[in-house]
Amino acid sequence: MNRSSQPPVPGGRLTEPAERLDSVPGPYGKQRRKQTDSALAPDLSQMSMSGQDTLNNSSPFASAVKSSSRGGLASVARLVKLGRCKNVVVVAGAGVSTASGIPDFRTPGTGLYANLEKYNIPYPKAIFNIDYFSNDPQPFFSLAKALYPGSHRPNYIHYFIRMLHHKGLLLRVYTQNIDGLEKLCGIPDDKLVEAHGSFATAACHLCYTAYPAKEAKQAIMNDKVPICTFCAATVKPDIVFFGEDLPQKYFLNTQDFPKADLLIIMGTSLQIEPFASLVNTVRSPVPRLLLNRNAVGPFKKVPLRRADHMELGDLEETVRRFAEMLGWNDDIEELMRSQETLSLPTLISSPLSVDQTSCQSRGAPAGKETSRSRAGGQRGASSGSEETDSKSSASSSQST
Ligand code: OAD
Repeated sequence: MNRSSQPPVPGGRLTEPAERLDSVPGPYGKQRRKQTDSALAPDLSQMSMSGQDTLNNSSPFASAVKSSSRGGLASVARLVKLGRCKNVVVVAGAGVSTASGIPDFRTPGTGLYANLEKYNIPYPKAIFNIDYFSNDPQPFFSLAKALYPGSHRPNYIHYFIRMLHHKGLLLRVYTQNIDGLEKLCGIPDDKLVEAHGSFATAACHLCYTAYPAKEAKQAIMNDKVPICTFCAATVKPDIVFFGEDLPQKYFLNTQDFPKADLLIIMGTSLQIEPFASLVNTVRSPVPRLLLNRNAVGPFKKVPLRRADHMELGDLEETVRRFAEMLGWNDDIEELMRSQETLSLPTLISSPLSVDQTSCQSRGAPAGKETSRSRAGGQRGASSGSEETDSKSSASSSQST
């Protein structure tokens, strides 16, 4: 994060402790719950594991939860068709990108956290812990080589979200994903909050001096450690780690969620705070639609809130059905075709592709450019214009 462009936010830190607390019943869990339920309290800007007091999937009530999901999609499609949803907020997680070939984090067996043995870390989430990184950046850098955007394409789900924008219905999409696929599919910057950061910018993990993202990438790809030209600490891409502040733009939620008239939650386990609690900050009569493989967060409770709907199953398949109900499928297919044609040349000349530019890194000669003179770091909160697709496609060709 660029300190100059992002003033410190009170309590704006992504914290990990509750990850361990959440498995420990008792006062900590209760306290956490109280904190996160108070809409948009400063604690909501801290990332940690959610301590939600809910049913698990093996509960005898799980079947009741499942059956309560029936018909949800059609009900919400009807509301959209009636014109009742003009300020749609989408909350997204890793399940949105599995159809693009990117594993999620927590699915047993295939999720990222189940496949980190080779990095020799004490516990899986250490790989995204800022204090761990500070001591040993190597595990994250090894993983980052595989995580850097560039080899995956947006899928139907990303384009469905873009279609919401195209129809003038998207207030904002809040994504936890760091794969940059929302941007790549053409969702304009002012409609997108990358709550857990992205690889598009880089900065010193200690003093937050901005560092050229493509040079950071080049160093990492070449097994070198990019170092800050100001304080000589390690530079990292602006992915939000446990223990770090969320981007300023995240705080748009305080204006968006009260305004939302439909919340769509897609492909997330809702386990990480403050993101998870965002879903509790829409007004209570506002429909919330969960599209996921399993019930998560408040959708694990019986009974569901009366305006809550969920459709459980494969996300892409569900979103295709939803699009069919809305009569949007042909438009989405067409959008995908045209955007793929547009963005492929951009991918090839991506500013983040590894090139021959010099970089300053441990074991490499110092580059000329000083990071302090570079624009970069996290973007500030945007005003969020209501511009729809037809006017904004120019921004769509940018890749991360
Ligand atoms: P998770 O892996 O925790 O959750 C993904 C959810 O999507 C799970 O509930 C899956 O069942 C569901 N899912 C996956 N593929 C699906 C599919 N094809 N169809 C339907 N559902 C599917 O990922 P997130 O909730 O995004 O933070 O994780 C949140 C944060 O935890 C991440 O941003 C990351 C991690 O620690 C950082 O790295 C800082």
